[in-house]
Amino acid sequence: MIFNQQQSLHKELSRYRALQKTIGFVPTMGALHTGHLSLVEKALSQNGIVVVSIFVNPTQFNNASDLQKYPRSLDQDVKLLQTLNGVVLIYAPKPSDLYGKQVISKHYDFGGLENPMEGKFRKGHFDGVGTVLNLLFRAIRPDKAYFGEKDFQQLQVVRKLVQLEKLPVEIVGCPISREPHGLAMSSRNNRLSDTQFEEAGLIYQTLKEVQYKFDQYSVTKLKDWVQKQFSKNAHLELEYFEIAIAKTLKPAVRKRSGNTYRAFIAVFAGEVRLIDNMALN
Ligand code: PAF
Repeated sequence: MIFNQQQSLHKELSRYRALQKTIGFVPTMGALHTGHLSLVEKALSQNGIVVVSIFVNPTQFNNASDLQKYPRSLDQDVKLLQTLNGVVLIYAPKPSDLYGKQVISKHYDFGGLENPMEGKFRKGHFDGVGTVLNLLFRAIRPDKAYFGEKDFQQLQVVRKLVQLEKLPVEIVGCPISREPHGLAMSSRNNRLSDTQFEEAGLIYQTLKEVQYKFDQYSVTKLKDWVQKQFSKNAHLELEYFEIAIAKTLKPAVRKRSGNTYRAFIAVFAGEVRLIDNMALN
């Protein structure tokens, strides 16, 4: 069932609440792929009912052309969700239904999680993500919400958001779904040419190699090595590669024992921006 307005969604949800059903929530920007469907399946396995929001959130885009070109395929998305077993409600609002008259971000202090990597290269991005999720959580009041680890920084920011906003929702992180050659699944992959798609396998191969080399080499050496890998590829341009402490997301300069590290990468394939990350130790 598809809802464009909070009012009718609330009504439907209160029916399920009265039956003591728990509500799982999967927020998306549509152009659904297998990765999204695995989140919805997990949510269905743990809840009485699942809400999937489909909303391309304008306030989290720092680049107008990226927002304009973001893939949109609502009819196809609805069809895909209908193939799943279980009750899935789709919430696909217009900006005014969520935001009211002013489609603007609230400003958040996520304790530094918002500053490096995606925060550095996409100014205001996490204020936009925090704002829309706060509105969605308040509209849906889910028991659990499901996020993919492809956006690992976003996942950490969301955990902080629910603390700051005192939202009674459990955040569940889910493993990255990958294409056979390793590329992390993303709605943006739809915009890649066949060559770009094939070449983008280098992102995963590089992360795997860094994971393998992590014990033997310094952070600086690993970063230099990654730069070189991408400078040799005519189809991909490295935007950043960082090794950061998984919990705080602070970029590491030197490895310290006891810390858990993760590698983070953003790469352009033509105009299409791809991100990925991987646990290192
Ligand atoms: O990860 C996304 O698709 C978006 O950032 C989210 C969580 C749906 C918020 O707009």
